[in-house]
Amino acid sequence: MKPTRGIKRRKQVNKTVQRPGWVYILEVVVVFLLVEAVLFTAKVSPLVSVFYLLIVIYLKILRGKRRLDMRSFLSLSLLFLIYVPMCRFIISQGWSPYYVPVPAAAMVVMLNYRDLELVFVFAMLVSFLSAEMFGGNLYYFWIVFLSSVVGALMARNVRHRKHIFQAGVAVSVSMAILYLLYVYASGGNIVRGNLIAVFVNGVLSFAITFVGVPLFEVMFGTLTNISLLEWADTQQPLLRKLIMEAPGTYHHSLVVGNLAEAAAEEVGANSLLARVGAYYHDIGKIPRAEYFVENQAKGQNSHEKLSPSMSKLILMNHVKEGLDLARKYHLPKQITDFIAQHHGTSLAYYFYQKAIDEGKQDIREEDFRYPGPKPQTKETAIVLLADTVEAAVRSLPDPNPDKIALTVKKVIDAKVIDGQLDECDLTFRDLDKIARIFTKVLSSMYHQRITYPDSKNKNGKEKNGKSGKNGLSKSQKD
Ligand SMILES: [Fe+2]
Ligand SMILES: [Fe+2]
Repeated sequence: MKPTRGIKRRKQVNKTVQRPGWVYILEVVVVFLLVEAVLFTAKVSPLVSVFYLLIVIYLKILRGKRRLDMRSFLSLSLLFLIYVPMCRFIISQGWSPYYVPVPAAAMVVMLNYRDLELVFVFAMLVSFLSAEMFGGNLYYFWIVFLSSVVGALMARNVRHRKHIFQAGVAVSVSMAILYLLYVYASGGNIVRGNLIAVFVNGVLSFAITFVGVPLFEVMFGTLTNISLLEWADTQQPLLRKLIMEAPGTYHHSLVVGNLAEAAAEEVGANSLLARVGAYYHDIGKIPRAEYFVENQAKGQNSHEKLSPSMSKLILMNHVKEGLDLARKYHLPKQITDFIAQHHGTSLAYYFYQKAIDEGKQDIREEDFRYPGPKPQTKETAIVLLADTVEAAVRSLPDPNPDKIALTVKKVIDAKVIDGQLDECDLTFRDLDKIARIFTKVLSSMYHQRITYPDSKNKNGKEKNGKSGKNGLSKSQKD
């Protein structure tokens, strides 16, 4: 693949629709006033109102680029409010304050947002509310807050529902230890009701998280690891369709998934999301699978009789077709984003060059660029890189670690120069790590092919025909 140095960048077509600033401020103020009104009506201490205000300022202003989007802000505010009647009910029954399942809130937030900082802040807010409503006991605040953090940390990498149960057990144990420490330090007596409540709290936290997480996902459009794993299942109708109708693309997607997962792990991005997103990134190739090199037999080239403009249309249409299929099969937005962003506004270089070579008039570079948008997250950017790197290395006639390293570097440099990574949060340090892990994974993949004598025929050419001899460089065509 030739780097696109010097090529004029084209303005992005599918820009995210930005709402006016005043609408954004109005929404924040409305949600804030709603919460304050509920706190006031429920006669909750004004200290909680002030604390909530500080949290709002932090989440919506001080976090800068990482500030909470409106939907998440609304969902967390509602989750916070649920604890007001919950505490009131427990108070009215005369039950122990340790029945309040504060850790469940932290676990739900961790599972849905995978953001430790957000979990800390939110757990602190709910713990403070609960402590204030039960008389302002500072020790109680620390006990429920720290147990919430333990529960959230245990729920951090939940991949199966049984892990939520384990997090619930951790909540009970940590809360019991902290409670006993408090009793010991204060010289008081162990209250049996409190001790029972501490253990019940773990069970409640497990039950609420177990039931609440899917509800939260549906209501607020979040995506947990558990759902991601369900989407990764090959029994999913859309993946089955890909396997049956475009097996070459499916194989390509698996390799991209492995690369993306390893790279995301390396730079602290959501590795599972990157892998699952990669599985679906090219589903738009299903309707015209035969036009994509990975599904073509050796020597076959469906583009031979087509004009470069027609080839380009088919090529670019796979993004649109992918989005249509995503809608039809109800793919979550977080996965759909990989379909829309995995080419960014890259240039279909091969067909652009072919059109120029054929002496066509009025060839405009922007007509041969994907519509975008450019990757908006680390995960989609990693898939864009993994996708191009995989195709480029696949087209190398005789891959070895040095050639692979060089190709990986060229591809990443070209994408940076072309501005494809301008709208995501990857740093140059991240790109360096990604290049190293791509080289490592691809070298180990191609190692077998290099060392096994079986994989070469008498002429020294590979049997599987991956030398791109059909006239089109695979990396350029894809
Ligand atoms: Fe693609
Ligand atoms: Fe791809």
